[in-house]
Amino acid sequence: MVSHERRFFCRSPDGSIIYTTDGSFIFAEKDGVVMRLDMFAGHYYKLRPYNGVPVLEVDGLRMQLVKDFRTPLDYSNEVVKGLHIPESKGAAPDTSVALDTCMGLGYTAIALAKKSGVKMVVTCELSEAVITLAKWNPFSDMVFAKGSKIVLMEGSIAERIKSFDSGMFSYIIHDPPRVSHAPELYSSAFYAELYRVCRKGARIFHYVGSVGKTKGRRIDREVEKRLSAAGFTGIRYVPRLQGMFGTK
Ligand SMILES: C[S@@+](CC[C@H](N)C(=O)[O-])C[C@H]1O[C@@H](n2cnc3c(N)ncnc32)[C@H](O)[C@@H]1O
Repeated sequence: MVSHERRFFCRSPDGSIIYTTDGSFIFAEKDGVVMRLDMFAGHYYKLRPYNGVPVLEVDGLRMQLVKDFRTPLDYSNEVVKGLHIPESKGAAPDTSVALDTCMGLGYTAIALAKKSGVKMVVTCELSEAVITLAKWNPFSDMVFAKGSKIVLMEGSIAERIKSFDSGMFSYIIHDPPRVSHAPELYSSAFYAELYRVCRKGARIFHYVGSVGKTKGRRIDREVEKRLSAAGFTGIRYVPRLQGMFGTK
């Protein structure tokens, strides 16, 4: 029999919200009112606990990779490690700006922002429902905190990217939904924009999923070909991270 009993999950950083879980859902209790952290808005969005950290599900699909990782935060930290971001050299001003194309719960943006060699992180999110759930998620707190290095842009990155200056980013994490849900984020035109906004020497990580045929397509090969056609070099797939690194 499934138990629906709720147990303590965590508190918000300021202690004003208590989070509980029944193992499937996460509930937020504030001023005596309890809310379940899921919603319908065209699609079904839900926070689910995973080893003490919330993950986001959209229509039942998990938005963070956890296979081979204890929590999604470990995955984000390892992706950022792979970008080889040097630590800031104290007195020298930090100049590196990073782009996290698809915010989700902001875990990859937060991992970028934690690096001293990154001055600012620009991130973008299309779904208002995701932004609402991220605002309730105590593990996304750093995105919305006062004085945060992270700047959130609402809307589609496919459009937003056109407004960025050429060469303004030193690091990019591109962690889009799967290709069937957002084909524009896998298009040659979008990759040309990613290349344009990178400075020379910039490093990119592109999540593509596990390698193999999906409905007869090898997405990894298609992505590699298009990134290369856009101008990125040294493209290398890392199976554990299910994504590829490249350089401008
Ligand atoms: C795989 S998740 C990103 C997970 C994120 N890296 C994290 O650490 O939580 C993809 C996100 O992209 C958002 N999205 C989908 N299409 C988008 C678009 N065109 N522009 C920006 N965000 C988009 C989805 O709503 C979803 O939250």
